[in-house]
Amino acid sequence: MAFRTLDGVAVAGKYVLLRADLNVPVRDGRITDLTRIERLCPTIRELSAAGARVLVCSHFDRPKGKRVAEMSLAPMALALGQVLGRHVRFAEDCVGLPAEQAAEAVYNGDVMVLENTRYHPGEEANDPAFAAQLAALADIYVNDAFSAAHRAHASTEGVAKLLPAYAGRLMQAELEALEAALARPVRPVMAIVGGSKVSTKLDLLGNLVSKVDVLVIGGAMANTFLAAQGIGVGRSLQEAEMHATARDILARAKAANCEIVLPVDAVVATEFRPNPPTQTVPVTAVPADAMILDVGPATVAKLEAQLADVKTLVWNGPLGAFETPPFDAATVALAQAVAARTQAGTLRSVAGGGDTVSALRHAGVLDKLSYVSSAGGAFLEWMEGKTLPGVAALEV
Ligand code: 3PG
Repeated sequence: MAFRTLDGVAVAGKYVLLRADLNVPVRDGRITDLTRIERLCPTIRELSAAGARVLVCSHFDRPKGKRVAEMSLAPMALALGQVLGRHVRFAEDCVGLPAEQAAEAVYNGDVMVLENTRYHPGEEANDPAFAAQLAALADIYVNDAFSAAHRAHASTEGVAKLLPAYAGRLMQAELEALEAALARPVRPVMAIVGGSKVSTKLDLLGNLVSKVDVLVIGGAMANTFLAAQGIGVGRSLQEAEMHATARDILARAKAANCEIVLPVDAVVATEFRPNPPTQTVPVTAVPADAMILDVGPATVAKLEAQLADVKTLVWNGPLGAFETPPFDAATVALAQAVAARTQAGTLRSVAGGGDTVSALRHAGVLDKLSYVSSAGGAFLEWMEGKTLPGVAALEV
């Protein structure tokens, strides 16, 4: 895939509409994680230093086409200013007279954040008239919101058809990292997929069996695969209605020469709460009244041994119920092994998805993988092999 980057683009004196993803986690009105804002800064600094007039647009949350005061981007504009260490302006609307008047006061090198694009129904409807209103503000469109690129909305897709459109540096980094991991990987490639439901990751598993050499299935999803093969999983979370699908995925993997790795042992408990009494058992000996809450140490040792041969790893989803101790143990141990191999230069490792990022942070290795995507849904859709409309719009 070839896409247009900012290399060689003359931006001095030009209005640049920069689509960012300022959809950051907020609790009690406070931003709890600045990662997306921090990652946006290289593009903003580059554009501003080159004399562009930077108009940042983004959605936040899901106001469904109405002005919802708690979903304003004003706090994100403030946070962006703090991270950039400079004044960042704010416009009360992203289109129309308020936006146009605010933009008039933006000079070369200035940065202004426009209010939430999803205050307008035309955003999610990808309404050409709304896209045209956004386009009217700028000379150039730059998309740095990979994490919103799975949405065919006016600010991610529609406007790219109306202005010269380029990938920002964050978008570029995401695309290059992801391409190197699945499109042109150094083999063997291992994928680790965790999480609770096969039903939500069906397309992803289906795509991966045809792309990777080893597919590790963890989390509650593994219980469904075990149960589908007649293994008793006690009271563990699993999806009985997905057994036939799980068997079909196993058969497709076999046909595609993809090795599926399921847990060989498990940490079980009869209650799901922090630090209950636990037992470690082979997966074939899960007591009828117990729940599998993490993969066991023998499984971790097996995965660590397999990692020694792997050259590329793609990871989405924790191995166990990592938010509740001690069921974080396997995910933490594997994350540390992945980090060590990556740091030693023998492994290219790419991870993404909200839970995965929290798990890697919890394991203290967030900055020790080759690339950790800031995307949630978009990362999943990319792993499913889908075309992301926001990316397709930047292709040459
Ligand atoms: C995300 O946080 O995954 C993106 O910003 C997309 O948000 P959405 O799911 O509300 O479209």
